Parts: sequence; structure tokens; C-alpha cells
Amino acid sequence: MRIKDCYNTADFRRLAKKRLPAPIFHYIDGGADDESTLNRNTAAFDTADLVPNVLTGAEQADLSTTVLGQQLQLPLFFSPTAMQRLFHHEGERAIAAVAEEMGTMFGVSTLGTRSIEELGRHKAPKLFQIYVHKDAALTADLIERCRANHFDALALTVDAIVAGNRERDYHYGFTTPPKLTAASLLSFALHPQWSFNYLLREKFDLPNVSHYIETGSTIAASVVEYLDTQMKRSISWDDAAEMRQLWGGPFAVKGVMSVDDAKRCVDIGATAIIVSNHGGRQLDGSRAPFDQLAAIADAVGGQIEIILDGGIRRGTHVLKALARGATACSGGRLYLYALAAGGSAGVRRAMERLRDEMQRDMILMGCRSVDELNESMLNERNGQTL
Ligand code: LAC
Repeated sequence: MRIKDCYNTADFRRLAKKRLPAPIFHYIDGGADDESTLNRNTAAFDTADLVPNVLTGAEQADLSTTVLGQQLQLPLFFSPTAMQRLFHHEGERAIAAVAEEMGTMFGVSTLGTRSIEELGRHKAPKLFQIYVHKDAALTADLIERCRANHFDALALTVDAIVAGNRERDYHYGFTTPPKLTAASLLSFALHPQWSFNYLLREKFDLPNVSHYIETGSTIAASVVEYLDTQMKRSISWDDAAEMRQLWGGPFAVKGVMSVDDAKRCVDIGATAIIVSNHGGRQLDGSRAPFDQLAAIADAVGGQIEIILDGGIRRGTHVLKALARGATACSGGRLYLYALAAGGSAGVRRAMERLRDEMQRDMILMGCRSVDELNESMLNERNGQTL
């Protein structure tokens, strides 16, 4: 199986599974506890059906939208995700390059493996995802570095003050940087190409935090250990409001699920909420973003931008979210499998396929632009609850 044999996210997932040592693949693929939220995030899209309008004369579909002050050519952008250098040696560079080619935005994680300074030089619109660490000086430093390096938006992650229980990481022995354990040794040996690239190319580092924290860069730790020891658990709405003010630019709160919290984001003057449960990796048994979208759009639609994050595997998933009131969508695994499968070539193909799906399906829906998608084009499937 090669990249050109991959037509959809599921195909890229299969290829990623072949290319990656098991601990790395399962770190991307896994969720918390029984993974019921992880699975529901995608299944939720099947509870609503698209209802097309015909004979509208829609010959072309314009997919552009404006979110967080950026005009994007696609209503879908790259969610910030950690550790990309582990998945492919190109890491974040691949994502920044494809974002620029496709005219979309890319997110950079606090736990990214390329620096704010390096990624700031890329032309594509960029969002920095910030974790609030116990060390206040680190948080202030991150914000200043983002400002100095021309990041366009900041997203405060609020759903990971402790780590979710990712049992696959325990099972396969995932740590950052990777550590050879009895459980993982065979898997690294069976993937010599990955191991060669990991060992002989640039050294793994978490350059946005490693000058403050050795854990995760020079001292191997599980992601659970990292989040559980480094995050400031007592973070509050006052902290969020203060951060928005300090930053001063487009600001999103990532990991909002309740209607009340969405309203509080409006109150603190956030530009956007990212409706997300962290890809089902944190609170298992929590609701899927798409299931919750109608309630949130009813409450705060028009007052704040709504970004739907989680579970997207198809272009039609994006169209359903937009019809239900999202301004734009973002996703992680949908490009991480492709990154692991083939670096920038993989990511380019995955995003081109998704773009073509969205374009084709908009025309089939009778829509010329994303603004034309609305709730009347979406029906709950009989017998399913919202
Ligand atoms: C994760 C964190 C690090 O989900 O974002 O693994």
C-alpha cells in the first residue's frame, strides 16, 4: 500500500499503522478509557442527513470562510497536535507547508516539536495552542514569543488540566521521547525506516517548553505524567480573561462543550470557541462536539465564531457541521495519519482529497458558498436522538 492508494482517512490510517512502531501509532489513534467518546465523535455525524436542493445552477463551490481574523480557502484547518516529529521526521514543517499551499491555517501545540520561531517564518495563517503550566513565567514567555513571531491567533486549551486515561499508551509503552522497553523494543526493531529517521535526523525536542522543563524532552515521560505534573489545574475564567487581554489579538477557547461555558466565552470577549473534547482523549463518556453543536449555535451563534473540532473524517462531516451553525471545522487525526503515512506528500494528498470532497458535495447540495449551507439542509435521522 502506497500514498497513491489512499483515498480517505481510513486508508491513511491503515498505512500509518504499517509505517509506525506500535506505541506511536496507538498514541495517535487511541482515546481515553473505553474510547466511547472517541468513537461517538465520528458516529455522531451519521445522526443527521444532508438534504440537497437541486437545479440551483451551482456550477462551482467557493469553500472560503473567515475565522479568527483569517480568510481561509477551506472551512477546515489543522488542529494543533503534539509531538509531530515522532510521526514523521518532517513533523510540523509538513503541516505548515501544506497549509500554505491549500490556503488554510495550521495550529501549533505547546508540545510541538518545532519552535515558535521557526514556524513563525511560514506564510500560512497560524494559531498557537497554549497550555497553562504551573510556571507562570513559561506561559508569559510563550505568549510573547507568539507575538514576536507573528502568530495570528491564540487558543487556550481548557480540557486537559489533568491527562485522560489512555490505556493504549500504557499497554504499548508510549513515552516522549520514546524509550525502549520490553513492550516497545520489538515494534521499533520491526520498523527500521522509522527508527533510522528518528535516530539519525534532528534530535527530538519540545523547543517551546524545554528551556523550562526537561520532562518530555531530555527526560522520557508519558504524556499522562507530563500533563499531570506540569499543568496549572486551578486555571479559571479570570485567567482566561486575563490571557485574552494580554494577547490582544484573535483568541479562542479550545475544549468548550457546555452552553453555559460558551456564553462565558462571549462574556470574556473571546473571538471563537472550539467545541471539542480533545479528540476523545480526555473525558470518556462526554458528549460528541457534533451532538452538542445545535444547542451551542442556538445560544451563541452570531455572537462568537464556532469551530467544530473532533471526529471529522469526510468532507460531508464538515458540511454537516457548517449547516448546523459552525463557522469552520478543525481536525487532528485526519492529517496525522497522512503525516505518518508519507510526510508532506501524504498530508497534501489527504487535504486535497478532503477539499475535493467538500467542493463536489457542495455542488451536489446546490450550494455556491459555505454561507448557503443552513439547518434546513440537515435532518435528524428518524428514531435517533439529538
Ligand atoms: C494529547 C495532548 C498532548 O492529546 O494534546 O496527547
